[in-house]
Amino acid sequence: MPDLFSPYTLKDVTLRNRIAMSPMTMYRSVDGKTDDFHLMYLGARAAGGFGLIFPEQVAIAPEGRTTPHCAGIYDDVQIEGHARVTSMIKGMGAVAGIQLGHTGRNGSEVKPWVAGELGRQLARTTRRAGRSSARRTFRTASANGPTRCTRCRSTRSR
Ligand SMILES: Cc1cc2nc3c(=O)[nH]c(=O)nc-3n(C[C@H](O)[C@H](O)[C@H](O)COP(=O)(O)O)c2cc1C
Repeated sequence: MPDLFSPYTLKDVTLRNRIAMSPMTMYRSVDGKTDDFHLMYLGARAAGGFGLIFPEQVAIAPEGRTTPHCAGIYDDVQIEGHARVTSMIKGMGAVAGIQLGHTGRNGSEVKPWVAGELGRQLARTTRRAGRSSARRTFRTASANGPTRCTRCRSTRSR
């Protein structure tokens, strides 16, 4: 039985070992671009010895991002960042994978921890002061940028 540290070949791609890093969204992208943060974060993992590294899911359309802070591959301005990251991963001896994605209706307009806080605020207000006040809270929170109600998923402030 092959061990974890033996190479693995599929067609013309050879991994130096069988250790793969799964894609993990970092919520650090601006306009879907990957930058120095991704270069450092993924480059360090490649230098650390992974055989295969999947950068975070890259959305095929802006509205398909999990949040506006997620990476994409739908605009030419994003090419440079992906090329730098891929080149760094390869330079450190690992293979770069890619996860193309579209989050569909599960997409959110805020980072998960912001959505969580909005939901908690809404629940507290609803308990304390009834629904009209809760609607005000949602509207106030929405004024800081487009968001989505974490309870009903609506983007409208009714
Ligand atoms: C912060 C974070 C971001 C993630 N982003 C993605 C992603 O972009 N695409 C994906 O398929 N899975 C994503 N995942 C899931 C991970 O890739 C992985 O499948 C999950 O953490 C379970 O890993 P395990 O099977 O090794 O326990 C994410 C997980 C975490 C913790």
